[in-house]
Amino acid sequence: PIIYAITPTYSRPVQKAELTRLANTFRQVSGLHWILVEDSAQTTELVSRFLAGAGVRATHLHVPTPRRYKRGGLPRATEQRNAGLTWLRQQYQAQVQLSYRLNSAPAAPQQLPNVSGVVFFADDDNTYSLELFQEMRTTRKVSVWPVGLVGGRRYERPVVENGKVVGWYTGWRADRPFAIDMAGFAVSLQVILSSPKALFKRRGSQPGMQESDFLKQITKVEELEPKASNCTKVLVWHTRTEKVNLANEPKHPPDTIKIE
Ligand code: UGA
Ligand code: MN
Repeated sequence: PIIYAITPTYSRPVQKAELTRLANTFRQVSGLHWILVEDSAQTTELVSRFLAGAGVRATHLHVPTPRRYKRGGLPRATEQRNAGLTWLRQQYQAQVQLSYRLNSAPAAPQQLPNVSGVVFFADDDNTYSLELFQEMRTTRKVSVWPVGLVGGRRYERPVVENGKVVGWYTGWRADRPFAIDMAGFAVSLQVILSSPKALFKRRGSQPGMQESDFLKQITKVEELEPKASNCTKVLVWHTRTEKVNLANEPKHPPDTIKIE
């Protein structure tokens, strides 16, 4: 299957460093298609040029976060992830419609022709092992695994009994229906296409609830497929890059050429 990695990204001093780290990983994953979605009114030159030389198959999208949502305490990157999902659905729409017509009924996942793909939400600051991509490749509907350095603990993980998810090991908001970070799950493309309305929500969604609000539209806890040896291995880390100190930047940069 193609692995579609949907990455929201926004302009800041560390952006190119983050994208470089990400591309160095993604370049080594066969069949990966990077959907990079800029949080901006236009695609930027920096990201366009970066992608052109990144050596990763990519689609470059953009959508600005409305100003009113650009503040602390609100979920991030909702519009960008949805733009990635909408792009994917448009790509496959012809195939889906054909299947609707042939069956004259809503297309069930298994009736969608020839779609073999996995969709994964890859924030630009996390750290991804190559093994993670091997694990998610076999996703049938929705797969899950542990995420390191998140939830106020060394890791969060789905609790697995007899091959089924029965609960969540987390230090934060254990009341979440799916107590899992964005980096902790993948969804088959068939599920994305056969639930055409499933999107990330802003209204009513608090930070940390986007994952649950999305997942409950497409699956149930009992259906989740545990990966990474029954969720006993950490293959992705919710690393966060510290805000860079630019206190000593000159007011009038000496360079006449543009440095990025
Ligand atoms: C946590 C989760 O890991 C995120 O998946 C979730 O979106 C986020 O909380 C949330 O509060 O909604 P955290 O590390 O706090 O993540 O968030 P960031 O990594 O700062 O942002 C998540 C993604 O959105 C990144 O890829 C980032 O580049 C992007 N982003 C962030 C934007 O596109 N625009 C912004 O204004 C901020
Ligand atoms: Mn992050």
